[in-house]
Amino acid sequence: MNLIFLGPPGVGKGTQAKLLCNKYGILHLSTGDILRLEISKKTTIGNFAKEFIDKGELVPDDTLLKMMKDRLCLDDAQNGYLLDGFPRTIEQAKGLNLILKKIGHKIDSVISLYANEDELVNRLIKRGLTSGRSDESIEIIKNRQKIYLDQTSPLLSYYHNVGLLIKINGVGEIKYINDEIIKIVNQYA
Ligand code: C5P
Ligand code: MG
Repeated sequence: MNLIFLGPPGVGKGTQAKLLCNKYGILHLSTGDILRLEISKKTTIGNFAKEFIDKGELVPDDTLLKMMKDRLCLDDAQNGYLLDGFPRTIEQAKGLNLILKKIGHKIDSVISLYANEDELVNRLIKRGLTSGRSDESIEIIKNRQKIYLDQTSPLLSYYHNVGLLIKINGVGEIKYINDEIIKIVNQYA
């Protein structure tokens, strides 16, 4: 089973992704986590990505596509995965399609988690107190929400049009939201 989690920063993609990947034994691929690891190791890609991430902006599409192409070809990505935080632009979604075609994979479902902006900003401010992330100050949080609306939210109609999109309310108890997602993805497991 190959899944995509779509949704604004702070909606709970990471939290729900971990629960789901544990349950089904699939690989959790968080592009944000991968980029932060590259930054901590001071690799070429990490050094390049840092200036974008620190401003809350998106790392260029070609960088993400190259990185994910390499990642999806590795052995551990051949038995199911959940993409958390990628694709984030229409260009990335189109590029992902080409990659998947080449390696013979297909996406079973795109789960869109949603919540209102006040809820998201409050969650991220709270998370920023302990996360140690360089992009969780109030201005950067607001910029990330704006970038989501401008650049990522067009993916909702993109995936709706190909019949893959499922929307789930991201406000409520973690366990309840997890059950809602399980009801949907069980058919692909
Ligand atoms: O997904 P997450 O919120 O952890 O991503 C953190 C940051 O990583 C984003 O704000 C963005 O700067 C960068 N990123 C990106 N492109 C992606 C995923 C993450 O530029 N596809
Ligand atoms: Mg995340």
